[in-house]
Amino acid sequence: MTIPEPPIVGTSPEFQNVLRTARMVAALDVTVLLTGETGTGKELLAQAMHAASRRADKPFLALNCAALPEHLVESELFGCRRGAFTGAVADQPGKIVSADGGTLLLDEVGELPLAAQAKLLRFLECGEVHPVGQAFPRKVQVRILAATNRDLLREVEAGRFREDLFYRLNVVPIELPPLRERRGDIPVLIEHFMGEFGRAHGLPAASFTRDAFARLKAYRWPGNIRELRNLCERVAILFAGRTVGADVLPREMQNEGERSFAATVTEALALPEGGIVLDDLERTLIGQALVKTGGNRSKAARLLGLTRDTLLYRMKKYEL
Ligand SMILES: Nc1ncnc2c1ncn2[C@@H]1O[C@H](COP(=O)(O)OP(=O)(O)O)[C@@H](O)[C@H]1O
Ligand SMILES: [Mg+2]
Repeated sequence: MTIPEPPIVGTSPEFQNVLRTARMVAALDVTVLLTGETGTGKELLAQAMHAASRRADKPFLALNCAALPEHLVESELFGCRRGAFTGAVADQPGKIVSADGGTLLLDEVGELPLAAQAKLLRFLECGEVHPVGQAFPRKVQVRILAATNRDLLREVEAGRFREDLFYRLNVVPIELPPLRERRGDIPVLIEHFMGEFGRAHGLPAASFTRDAFARLKAYRWPGNIRELRNLCERVAILFAGRTVGADVLPREMQNEGERSFAATVTEALALPEGGIVLDDLERTLIGQALVKTGGNRSKAARLLGLTRDTLLYRMKKYEL
């Protein structure tokens, strides 16, 4: 039985570009490197590419390289023989062999330890896996897709990622833009998720007022589509059949003006090579907030995203 894939939603030109490239290479056996912030849809796109390939009736498996302790990565990936190491109580085929004929997504591939990177490169070059503790290799026909939220070239420069493996994986790079760079998709995504969760829970759909909508469109979405989807699920359940105003949105979505300022500061503030004294920075910002609010501590606390008590505590600490 094939499980229907969740539909991929998005009409913005930025996202349509991504889909166009994905469609072009989906059916080929080429290695694809999906990059983008967390929650931008890398795994969903990988699934869709598998579903559109001639491997569709074979398994699609994903291995999160960040979720495993270093000593288990190799056996998870390449398999191991019983007794190969303490804890290897039975033969284990490994994800590559289990996905034979199908597709394996190496998620967070930037986290792969260097030793496993070398083995992976060997597999990509010759199509053979060498289970841990087994003398002879085995041929496997698996298509590798890789995903990362890191800048892999930078990882290469830092000596944490093999350059040869990077080029081997990066045959076709597909970059998923963050949601804040394709805000045109926000309305269709909201409509889609509201409908989906309403149906899933058997509830009448919820919707947003124009004002709430405007906030959602202006928000920075650090968690991207995953964050939007979770918000929609919460609203779909708690406010079924109702129209939800901006007051109901989480605090970080309410004051977009102040938040974007914080975001701008964070982006502009590159840590200098020589480092900084964080306390000095904090002291300066608290001072500025107090000046701005004419010494009103409650207002200053609000400007800094602190509770009044926390502000008072820090003012005492810095003798302000
Ligand atoms: N374009 C999209 N249309 C519909 N749902 C999406 C889209 N992109 C992502 N999602 C959903 O958002 C969540 C996060 O996507 P995921 O593929 O896991 O992101 P990533 O792997 O980049 O962290 C998933 O529930 C996924 O189904
Ligand atoms: Mg993911």
